[in-house]
Amino acid sequence: MDEETKTLVKESWGLVMPISEKAAELFYGRLFELDPGLKFLFKAPINVQGKLLMKALDGAVSGLDDLEALVPVLTQLGARHAPYGVLPKDYDTVGAAFLWTLEQGLGDAFTEDVKAAWTAVYGVIAKVMIDAQEEVKLEGPVSPRTVRLVQGSWAMVVPIADKAAQIFYEKLFEIDPTLKPLFHSNLEEQGKKLMQMLGVAVKGVSKLESIVPAVQELGARHVAYGVKDEDYDTVSEALLFTLKTGLEESFTDDVKAAWVEVYTLLSETMKAAAKETLDTSAGSTSPVDTRTADASINVAMLLSGLLVAVAVVQTVL
Ligand code: HEM
Repeated sequence: MDEETKTLVKESWGLVMPISEKAAELFYGRLFELDPGLKFLFKAPINVQGKLLMKALDGAVSGLDDLEALVPVLTQLGARHAPYGVLPKDYDTVGAAFLWTLEQGLGDAFTEDVKAAWTAVYGVIAKVMIDAQEEVKLEGPVSPRTVRLVQGSWAMVVPIADKAAQIFYEKLFEIDPTLKPLFHSNLEEQGKKLMQMLGVAVKGVSKLESIVPAVQELGARHVAYGVKDEDYDTVSEALLFTLKTGLEESFTDDVKAAWVEVYTLLSETMKAAAKETLDTSAGSTSPVDTRTADASINVAMLLSGLLVAVAVVQTVL
């Protein structure tokens, strides 16, 4: 990194620091405009986060003259970003939002040379952080990104839980009208329970592996309720539609993929256990054939049972 690059970055940063709070606000606004799903990765309030980011960048800029000391600091920072659910591709989005912020803050002082200098410096910082991040081994069936995207996006649904439950049931009956007469209890009441239980399940997502046995037992029990494999798809479709409607542009492909991953993991575990139960009871009356109005609780049981299992584990942890 040449001296001129360092000088341009340091001088222009000196102009941004006095307005660092405003710059951080602009930065996150732009970042979430470019990728609305990224907001779900952040747990700390965004003004707190902004201060930490500016402080880290300030440290990086002053450390440009002593890269030997700076690299280990950035390496540690990068490694910490793995459990935050950050992916290498996010560094491009952050870089774009950051350069845009500099442009807003510096106005005419954001010359082509300044832009090139910052692009080079950000590139070095990002590379050190990404390399460090990729060394981190993450365990468990669900990635931290999935956990944060599911938990963060759910928090946005909670304030509109009643509406979300209504959307869910309307969609469910639209996909499969034969389910409608099967629900005996008041839908509003049922919707409240559904949302409560989903909330508990979402909290338990980070400990998913520990609930596998409970989910398997649950899947096996659902054979008796007359639940078929395709019911899981119906619920999935209605749930994804509900999230899409509630989250609007924040229901990005990444957020959708996270929900699909969690739902698929749970439902596949249940279906596999159900199949095993059916195989071992082959010869006796098939519960699938006995699917009648008696199985009215099918879908509700499927979903609520699954969520209760998570809730049970949650209380144990
Ligand atoms: C130049 C690159 C970056 C710098 C200097 C930076 C700086 C920081 C700092 C100082 C923190 C506070 C916590 C800590 O020190 O571990 C943090 C947390 C975090 N950063 Fe970054 N970051 C960078 C890139 C990214 C990227 C590309 C993303 C992806 C969107 C990201 C997302 C996050 C998240 C999600 C947290 C944790 C928030 C929380 O748990 O509340 N960062 N970052």
